[in-house]
Amino acid sequence: MAGTFCLLSKKGGVGKTTFTLNCAHALAFSGFKVLLVDLDAQSNLTKHLLGRNQPGGFVRRPDFPDISKVLTSRHSAASAVVETGYAGLHLLPGSPDLDDLPLLNPRLGREPSRLRSLLAPLYPHYDYVLVDCPPVLNWLTRMALMATEKVIIPTQPEAYALQGLQDLVPWLDKMTATAQLFKIVINMYRANTQLHQALAAQIEAAYPGRVARQRVRLTIDLAEAARAGLSVFEHAPTSLAAMDLYALCFELFGLSAESVRTRMKERAAEGLGTEQQGLAVGT
Ligand SMILES: Nc1ncnc2c1ncn2[C@@H]1O[C@H](COP(=O)(O)OP(=O)(O)OP(=O)(O)O)[C@@H](O)[C@H]1O
Ligand SMILES: [Mg+2]
Repeated sequence: MAGTFCLLSKKGGVGKTTFTLNCAHALAFSGFKVLLVDLDAQSNLTKHLLGRNQPGGFVRRPDFPDISKVLTSRHSAASAVVETGYAGLHLLPGSPDLDDLPLLNPRLGREPSRLRSLLAPLYPHYDYVLVDCPPVLNWLTRMALMATEKVIIPTQPEAYALQGLQDLVPWLDKMTATAQLFKIVINMYRANTQLHQALAAQIEAAYPGRVARQRVRLTIDLAEAARAGLSVFEHAPTSLAAMDLYALCFELFGLSAESVRTRMKERAAEGLGTEQQGLAVGT
């Protein structure tokens, strides 16, 4: 059964999509089967993964199955899952229609467990499921919190971000959803500034045991990789960003050299490509 995670923050632009995408790549490259769920109307994850080989970027056909069509029962979740071109990495695409769904279908806002029941049949097919959330606490993020077990909160080491955590963490702690805060991850960290050192120490002191040891440094490689439509492991595999992200994945997902070796051997023995995993994907 998959380990299920959602990436959440009230603040925009802190690295939710960047972590979702790059962690998924690291896990898939390590031989694990990963499902990404794009729950953000901006659909950055979807545009990145499905637009990378298209000259004008990702173009959505009207009949394209996506998460909004799954939530409104026009497609099953399994039939909306698409391959990404990377072995073991599948995507349930996002949709710009997500924001308007509760207006068209008010029941959705009152059914926070709906996403969980739709995704649950997929979980046995994957090692990890990562849900990329919008930068807001709304009906969608509540659904994500019911559909996953662990919450990862990326944050910048900045005063306003710290204030945001002071609202978000108690809110999460008193939510009765399945998901619990797993780790706060300090992103865009500049180790050579006293401000960042002090704020990172303040975050760690405020949330003992709940902050990932591995911080992700501010580097141009992550933004450049996103622009090139690649993960940082493809774009700049020897960069600081790649090292930070790989170490972060090992920490967050409890990986070890041994577990990766074992998984790679299992995958080789299975002899399975993504198209043979038994899910009705992309059809
Ligand atoms: N450590 C980093 N160093 C430099 N740039 C970064 C880093 N992490 C993320 N970025 C860049 O910051 C921008 C915002 O990141 P991202 O889209 O992942 O944030 P987000 O939290 O998903 O935003 P939103 O809330 O709008 O969905 C992107 O251009 C990304 O490439
Ligand atoms: Mg995002």
